[in-house]
This record gives sequence, structure tokens and C-alpha cells, in this order.
Amino acid sequence: MNKSDAVQEIERLSEELRRHNHLYYVESNPDISDYDFDMLLKKLQELENQFPDLAQENSPTKRVGGDITKKFESVEHKYAMLSLSNTYSEDEIEEWAARALKGVESKIEYVCELKYDGCAIGIQYVDGKLKQAVTRGDGSKGENVTANVRTIRTVPLTLKNGFPEDIEIRGEIFFPLDNFHRLNEKRREEGEPEFANPRNTASGTLKMQDSRIVAERGLDCFLYGIYGVDDDSEGHFELVQKSAQWGFKVPPTSERYIEKTNSIDGVMDFIHYWDEKRKDLPFEIDGVVIKVNNYDQQEILGFTAKSPRWAISYKFKAERVSTFLEEVTYQVGRTGAITPVANLTPVQLGGTTVKRASLHNADQIEKLDLHLEDNVYVEKGGEIIPKIVGINLEKRGANSKKVDFIESCPECETELVRREGEVQHYCPNETGCPTQMKGKVEHFIGRKAMDIDGLGAETVDALFEAGLISKSSDLYSLTFDQVVNLERMADKSANNLLDGIEKSKEIPFERVLFGLGIRMVGETVAKKLAKQFKSIDALSTATFDKLVEVDEIGDKIAMSLQAFFQDESNLDTVNSLKAVGVQLVAEEKEGGSDRWNGLTFIVSGVFESFSRNELKAIIETNGGKNVGSISKKTSFVVAGDKMGPSKLEKANKLEVSIITEQEFIKMLENE
Ligand code: IVH
Repeated sequence: MNKSDAVQEIERLSEELRRHNHLYYVESNPDISDYDFDMLLKKLQELENQFPDLAQENSPTKRVGGDITKKFESVEHKYAMLSLSNTYSEDEIEEWAARALKGVESKIEYVCELKYDGCAIGIQYVDGKLKQAVTRGDGSKGENVTANVRTIRTVPLTLKNGFPEDIEIRGEIFFPLDNFHRLNEKRREEGEPEFANPRNTASGTLKMQDSRIVAERGLDCFLYGIYGVDDDSEGHFELVQKSAQWGFKVPPTSERYIEKTNSIDGVMDFIHYWDEKRKDLPFEIDGVVIKVNNYDQQEILGFTAKSPRWAISYKFKAERVSTFLEEVTYQVGRTGAITPVANLTPVQLGGTTVKRASLHNADQIEKLDLHLEDNVYVEKGGEIIPKIVGINLEKRGANSKKVDFIESCPECETELVRREGEVQHYCPNETGCPTQMKGKVEHFIGRKAMDIDGLGAETVDALFEAGLISKSSDLYSLTFDQVVNLERMADKSANNLLDGIEKSKEIPFERVLFGLGIRMVGETVAKKLAKQFKSIDALSTATFDKLVEVDEIGDKIAMSLQAFFQDESNLDTVNSLKAVGVQLVAEEKEGGSDRWNGLTFIVSGVFESFSRNELKAIIETNGGKNVGSISKKTSFVVAGDKMGPSKLEKANKLEVSIITEQEFIKMLENE
């Protein structure tokens, strides 16, 4: 293709991709398959590679990230980024409304919005093109995080349909709960400490240097303010609605995310509705925001030094109780990560008895300045584990002792290390610390790895106690006599266990690789590595450069792999596994096809002819993709017995095809 054809083709593809992106992410109404979308994107990427000077800053290829920001430049805000005055009291909302009424001396329409719990952003568009995105910072200057914001699919890169020339959009970038939980599940799998909450993780993600990681994590954005529009004859509510036609994702009125009302009763109704319903939202909010709708009235009311008089936020009270900190204990994960846990005097909170709260890491303890026997405030947010949010200093005893983070491992007494740039402490005794050793075996036998029938954490414990195993490969030399002598083990269960172990030798290489529990190597990374290197020998001898050449394998994963294979005892485990016949070479897949290329599946429930993992393997050998949670994008839900009702409900709501095991088999045979 010559250059002038390329100009046109790039323009055509970009336009088409933008349209599909909007249909998919903003309107949740795609009209092509993921596969076709990916093919268009690939075509555009290839053209941009061929003609780099034609690649536009706002090209749809930027959505997948790739730009690295070394240092976030400080940028002055054109319009100061103020905060909101807030209250926990309905009376104060009424007082605010009365003051506003007095100020404008006429009727007021109120806009009620959700107060999204994320990270504020100002996005500037000039001539319809995203120019720059800046965090709040100190309100007058923020950080330029444009490359990362470009990866957020609901933020348009170019505007359409009569957009204003130079505008700034204010909104909140947040972590949808589904994506947040998925990220933490992945972290668990990879042996990495979990993130504490969606809000901090959203702001942390926004400031990552590698925009590719930002793209993967799936942040989202709602807009709540528009600056720089000349014609402000209408109100805020109307302008927000109008901005939808320029391509923005606006909060839907149908879900009551935004509402206009002309009475304070209407405002209260909105507050009460969301106080009750906020737990069902797919993202976190910490309150609602009430604004005066009319821009002229907003101008009359003006600002105090810190916040507008035309808006106020009503914050929901998180349920909070106080109790005493009895002890801090420390958990050791399978990769040696140390998590401090607060052991509390049991107390009732939100219908459950709370005895423990996660303290996450040493910095958290330091920040709280926690002392033993402190009277602490405990809250339950969106997370399952409650958190300590403060300390009642009045109740602190004169001789109370500060909590000092431990220096050595509570299980094996090895001195802990904290690597540069990390918040977590680790026990470096990976192959000698009993808790880590057990944790590694438990990971190895897990459902997503070797899936060994008849073997659970309790039996692993018993096997360790009896001195029969110290690492995963030892499982393969267990004898019937050894196993049957364990407590609560009958002939039948001993046989089951040994059969299960024997059968696990058929588990494909990618799952064995995942089962090895290499730090940062989760299920997806293991699949990628297995596909690329095809054997443990090739993988263990690959150079750093060869490793990072693989898509999605970055420096950190490559370093973790190299560290793993440099360790003698890991090599010893790998060699023993090889010797007993565990799959350490990728099998060429038989019966494979690409018939389900571009289709995504969710397998849920219990099946008659196949295990869940077998069904997933069939899907993958035929080009399909298994995903963890349902979205409009999901092609099929393969539903077995005992499928969770909430999943079923979601599938129905999103009109995703639900098929039975029999229908799945038919699909496999017929196509
Ligand atoms: S309006 C002049 N509306 O809350 C300030 N803010 O405390 C205008 N926030 O930094 C802000 N949802 O990040 C507004 N619907 C909403 C909001 C919202 C969340 C955040 C925003 C701001 C903070 C103010």
C-alpha cells in the first residue's frame, strides 16, 4: 500500500473502530464479534507499524497501552479543581438548600448524582481530540496521566456530533468491582499480596508507568462536570445528557444514577434509595452529590475558598464500631509474603461477629500508629474483611506498647526482607519455611493446577506432620501403606488419593507450570509461557531477553522466572516431577480447531460427562476463550447443575445465551 492509500485506510479503520468501541463500552450494544474487532485493530496496528509517522496520538490502538511515562509532568489546571463540602446529616442538607434558596431568591431545581469513590480527573479536548488528562493534585496543579487515561475505553479519544471547541470534562476514574475482584484473584494465584480497596488501587493504577498494565486492569470513568461550553442556557443535568452525543459515558437516568428534582423531598428520596441500594452497585460510592442545576444560579451562589456553594455531598455512614486490639499476628503466604492481622475482642458489625481485621503491611501499621490494647474503630466497607479506620486515643493506656513489625518469620525465624519499591515483607526461606512449603503443595494440588482428587489441605498437613512429604514431587512416591496409616484414612480413601495422584500425571504442561507456584506466574501467564516455550527445559534456560519478548511478559515476571530456575531446590523439584512422568512438555493438541475463535465462554456448575476443567480445555482447543465473569461480551454460558443463581440472573439480564452440557456437546459435534 502506498502512503496516500495508507492515510485513507488508517482514517477509515480508526473511524470504524471508534464506532465499535463506543457501541461496546458506552452503549453496551456491540454489533460485531470480539474477534472481528480484534482483526480490525490488528490491521490498523500493522499499518501504523508500517507508516509510523501516520500513527495518530488518539488512535484506537492506544487503548491497549504501550506508552511508558517515566515521570508524570506537573500541569496547571485551567479551572481550579475544588472539593465539595460534605455532611452526614439530612438536616444539614436542608439547611444548605435553604441557604441556596435565599441566595438565588427563586425556585431551584436540584440534580442528584452518585458520589463515585475513585480518583478525580480533568480531561481536556481541543477540536474534538483528547489533548490531556490531569489528576486533581493539590487542586491548582495535577499530574499529567494522559497515556494511562487513553487506555480507559469509556473515555472517548475523539468527540463527535457538534462538540464544543475547547472543553474540559471532569469525572471520576474508578475500579469496577468485578475487575477489582478479578485482579485480586489473579494476585492470589500469582502469590502476590492483594490490594486493599478499589479506590486506592484505581489511583495507584492511574499513576503506573506502563500504560499496558493500566489497559489490562479495566478502569472506568463517569463524568460529572463540563467546563468551557459557551451556551450554558440549559442546566447541568441537560448538559451532562447532551455530552452523551459527543461520545461520553454518562450516568444513566434509568438506573437513577443521576436525577433531577425540584423539591427537597425528591433529594431525600434519592439519598434514602441509594443508602439502601448502594451495596448492589457494580462500583463503590461513598455518598451522593446534590447540585443546583441552573448555571446562572450556580454563578450567583459562587464558591467559598475550598468548594462551591451550589453543591454539597451527603456521605453515607459506614457502619463503625469500636473494640480492642488484643494481638497482631502474622500470616505467611506460599510465596513468603507476610500479612499482619489484627486480632480483636469480638464485636458485632453489620450482622456478623468481627474478630479479625487485615492490616495489610508495615506501612499501614505505621500510618495508624497502632499500639497493643488500643481501642480501635472498625468499619466494613465494600471489602469482605473489615478494616481498622482509626484509634480512640483517649482510651490509650499510658504504658501501651507500639506495634513493631516483626523482623523474622513467625514460622521459621528467618530474617524478613523488604525489596526496594515493595510494601510487603517477605520470608526469603522459600524452600525451608514449613508454612511456605505446605502452601506450595496446596497450590500445586489445587483445582486450577493438578486438580488431585481426594487430596485437600488437611491431608497435606497430615502428610507433612508424618514427614512423608516436603515438596510437591514427594507426592508421587507415596505408598499405600504410608497413606493408610494417616489418621482418618480408610483403605478406600487411601486408594482414591493414590489414584488421584497417578491421574495428575496427565495434566497438561501449562497447568503443571502454573502449579509450580512461581511468583507472578498465574494461570494466564503460565499458558502464554507453555505455548511459547513448549517445555520446562526451554523455559528454564531461556534468557531474560527471550522471556520479555513474549507478549505480556514484563521485566518483573522474567526476573521472577529466572530467580526460580536458579534455585537448586526448585530445579530438584522440577527434575523429580520429570522423572515420575508429570507433563513438562506441551502436547500438540489433538482434535483442535479454530471454530470458536472470537467466542467467549463461562463454564459454571457441575456436569455429568465432563469436569469443568475438561470443558474449559475443549473450549480452548477449539479456539474459544474462558472468562471469569459475565458481561454482554460473553458468547455462551455453559450451565451445569448447581450453577449460582446470581450468575444465572446476570446472564439472563444481559441476554447471554445459556446452554446445557448436552447442547454444548451438540455444538461441538455439529459445527
Ligand atoms: S462535583 C467543585 N460530582 O468528590 C467540585 N464530584 O469532594 C465539583 N466526586 O474531587 C465536584 N462523584 O473526585 C462531583 N458526582 C460527583 C462526584 C464528585 C465523586 C468526587 C470528586 C471530587 C470529590 C469532591
